[in-house]
Amino acid sequence: MSQLDVQMKGWVSTYGGILLFLFVLFQLTKGFLRRYRDKLFAKGESQFSELYNVPAGPTKAKLFESMQDVQSADWSLKNKGLIRILEIGCGNGANLKYFPKSARLVMVDRNEFYRPLLDENLKKFPHLHLEKVVYCSAEDMRQIASDSVDVVVSTIVLCSIDHVSAVLSEIKRVLAPGGKFYFLEHVMANEGTTLCTVQKLLSVSRIWPALCGNGCRLDKRTDVFIKEAGFSEISINRLDIYTDKMVVFKLIKHHIAGVATK
Ligand SMILES: C[S@@+](CC[C@H](N)C(=O)[O-])C[C@H]1O[C@@H](n2cnc3c(N)ncnc32)[C@H](O)[C@@H]1O
Repeated sequence: MSQLDVQMKGWVSTYGGILLFLFVLFQLTKGFLRRYRDKLFAKGESQFSELYNVPAGPTKAKLFESMQDVQSADWSLKNKGLIRILEIGCGNGANLKYFPKSARLVMVDRNEFYRPLLDENLKKFPHLHLEKVVYCSAEDMRQIASDSVDVVVSTIVLCSIDHVSAVLSEIKRVLAPGGKFYFLEHVMANEGTTLCTVQKLLSVSRIWPALCGNGCRLDKRTDVFIKEAGFSEISINRLDIYTDKMVVFKLIKHHIAGVATK
């Protein structure tokens, strides 16, 4: 065996051992790290949601106004003048203040660490009745029956979802015939603009999704996905939601808001 071979064997046994140790350690702590990350995000994103509500609040309030006119497909709710709303990516309940008084709520989020924050927020709105909270991915909401909700709400959630089409088909499945999907989402700026180039660079390089930690992308064309999802009627508006207070708002300035009918 040459001297080089001996040296190589030494390196492999030393560094290979260290790498194997780190790999095993990572596998063993993966679940713990994920839970720790989710706990941190629940706090961070809740604070962001409250900040976001400052410029976005009036748009949310105006968009959700027409929920007052929705009639439930469930006769027992309809007779009492109530509707069932499912919110995906409900987080800490930052949208509760914009829901109509007649709402019965089903809340979905993938991060269970929001629960204490959601419960705290729900106390401020005793007129809203919480039917259930489901911690699952919006791509697979099997715990929620088909045709069972009158309204689905999504605000700044689809930006961080890998399979937007899968979520939209779940939304269509759970909506009762004629049910409404209300959305407010940030989307990519127009092609050819400097902002668009920056958004693409930050998203493709995975810098932005990593910084946000929740997989949020700046280059999503969520409007295209919604138009292709097979709703019977869609009303979409493009609008800017913006405040000078934080630079992040410049990057997510362009939004779509609207209602799609099953
Ligand atoms: C930026 S926060 C928005 C919270 C709230 N909708 C608002 O407008 O303030 C995004 C939320 O979507 C949730 N979320 C992201 N991807 C999800 C998925 N695939 N399924 C369910 N919830 C998801 C996150 O856990 C988080 O609560």
